[in-house]
Amino acid sequence: MAGGPASAATLADDPDLQSPRAVYDAACASCHGPDGRGAPPKQLGFDVPMPDFSDCNFATREPNPDWVAVAHEGGPVRAFSPLMPAFGDALTTAQLRQAMTHIRTFCEVDDWPRGEFNLPRPLVTTKAYPEDELVFETTVAAEGPGRVETALIYERRFGARNQFEISVPFAWREQSGPGADDDWQKGLGDIKLGLKRVLYHDLSQGTILSVSGEISLPSGDTEEGFGTDSAMIEPSLLYGQLLPHGFFLHGQFGLGIPTDGERTNDEAFLRFAAGRSIVPGQWGRVWTPMVELVGAREMVSGADAHWDLVPQFQVTLSRRQHVRLNTGLRVPVDDGGTDRDTEFMVYLLWDWFDGGLLEGWQ
Ligand code: HEC
Repeated sequence: MAGGPASAATLADDPDLQSPRAVYDAACASCHGPDGRGAPPKQLGFDVPMPDFSDCNFATREPNPDWVAVAHEGGPVRAFSPLMPAFGDALTTAQLRQAMTHIRTFCEVDDWPRGEFNLPRPLVTTKAYPEDELVFETTVAAEGPGRVETALIYERRFGARNQFEISVPFAWREQSGPGADDDWQKGLGDIKLGLKRVLYHDLSQGTILSVSGEISLPSGDTEEGFGTDSAMIEPSLLYGQLLPHGFFLHGQFGLGIPTDGERTNDEAFLRFAAGRSIVPGQWGRVWTPMVELVGAREMVSGADAHWDLVPQFQVTLSRRQHVRLNTGLRVPVDDGGTDRDTEFMVYLLWDWFDGGLLEGWQ
């Protein structure tokens, strides 16, 4: 096995090893292959499947800092095989970034938005980045009559820029009012189908813009008070912005258009999220405090806008960072006469492309 960490011990000082290609060829190519597809198992002497850096669908979704972490600390830092050596002692972080620059040349199609844009998911605002995720969301009324709403959301990417989504909600509600016993009612809510497409992305500016269209079907048990009795179409524009020092923004502007306009009014909504990803151990768990401002207004004259603030905290649970938890509170700050209560919100997210739910923990 040539080119392992032992032979790399003096690489950091080698004046010839200061360009992307030179670092990659000297330190990485023996295993990852000159073309980034992985050397043949015979040459490697082990049969751990090698990543294919020329496969854009795989390579573009990983952000550089994650890959630098793997190269610096070795495979186990993200629950990969220890056969991926740690180069932290042999190469400087600047050299590892150069190796990444070369690895990035193996995917030759620049249509694919980079994983850097896969910013932490807010509780309410939709992200611009297309994802492969399964999310289990729960909202619990923190005051007023008991209410628990859950949704299972499945998201799947297709092609470089697109994503399909289905969301199936289920809810429980405490009965209130005269004659109500202490029972809880339960029922299916309105199932949503959605499509998302990236319109524009530019990593040097840190900007991504997408459009999304959702249709919510009147599948809810309306007799029990769950869901609505009209299908609703929800087009929206999605914006993501990377900022220095781990800060980021999300924005979403959209409309809710009922197909049966006699019962419900059109609505416009505006959502912002600002946050910062912090990695206390430099290479390990990511903590992301965020706050969202969520507003909506019915499109009829005289209607008031209502606004909620949603402070929240996301944390990566698994070592692979593909399982994440977010918890927060949705607090009405200006309820526009809608008489809403504070809610506790939580989701568990599994990025299934990055590994099985039980894989990647140690
Ligand atoms: C001794 C062989 C060897 C060398 C040398 C080596 N790697 Fe690796 N690398 C591996 C193996 C094996 C894996 C796959 C680990 C797994 O999937 O469990 C891997 C995986 C990776 C990954 C993770 C990809 C993913 O799945 O997200 C990155 C990034 C990486 N290597 C970067 C580098 C860089 C940069 C260098 C040079 C500085 C390098 N490697 C040198 C063996 C090596």
